[in-house]
Amino acid sequence: MKTDILNPFVKGLADGADEALHADAKLMKTPSVEPDVGMFLEFLTYTLKPEKILELGCGIGVSTRYMQKGAPYAHITALDYNKSRLDYAHQNCTGIDFVFADVIDFMKRQSEKYDMIFVDSMKKQYPMILYYALKKLKPGGVIVFDDILMYGHVFSQDCEVPDKYIEVVRTLRNFIARVKVEHRHCILPIGSGVLLIYGEK
Ligand SMILES: C[S@@+](CC[C@H](N)C(=O)[O-])C[C@H]1O[C@@H](n2cnc3c(N)ncnc32)[C@H](O)[C@@H]1O
Repeated sequence: MKTDILNPFVKGLADGADEALHADAKLMKTPSVEPDVGMFLEFLTYTLKPEKILELGCGIGVSTRYMQKGAPYAHITALDYNKSRLDYAHQNCTGIDFVFADVIDFMKRQSEKYDMIFVDSMKKQYPMILYYALKKLKPGGVIVFDDILMYGHVFSQDCEVPDKYIEVVRTLRNFIARVKVEHRHCILPIGSGVLLIYGEK
């Protein structure tokens, strides 16, 4: 897989990552952003200076805390429908609005607008999430999707993709193809791939 060629080097550069956060994820046996993605989120929030951030699928809050480190003054709303992960995140981060909700339901019933939206929930829902997230984004805001390259499987031949990923990989390939023609965007080969979409003014 193409990203495997690059990732060991990129990961080696993530020396400023917060090891305690990743130790938490390991201890809790929960998926979380890779250290290089965490550092990128901290850098991005530091430079964008968003007032309001929406996080869709916060898990135990590793990515949440990176974003909070970059923008400590920002109002962050972080969602997950896994109660025990959300409770853990709540206990370990202060000053965040944690919401127990399904990401699509929440976006459908909420009228708030955000400067930045970070998405790390179910990958097969990414196309639908983009549809609703664009409505929740302030002009000039940014949507960030994690795991967009699915460990590099989006570049593989179908026969090389493990069965459990084939459906989601096809969804992500179509999603990327559409984003490429419809949105100002950028894909970074860090972690398992990060997609940034700019919300036109
Ligand atoms: C990869 S984990 C997020 C890890 C987090 N970014 C971190 O770094 O700690 C994905 C999370 O999304 C949540 N999730 C998936 N689909 C969801 C949905 N439709 N609504 C709410 N949460 C969802 C899962 O419960 C899971 O905790």
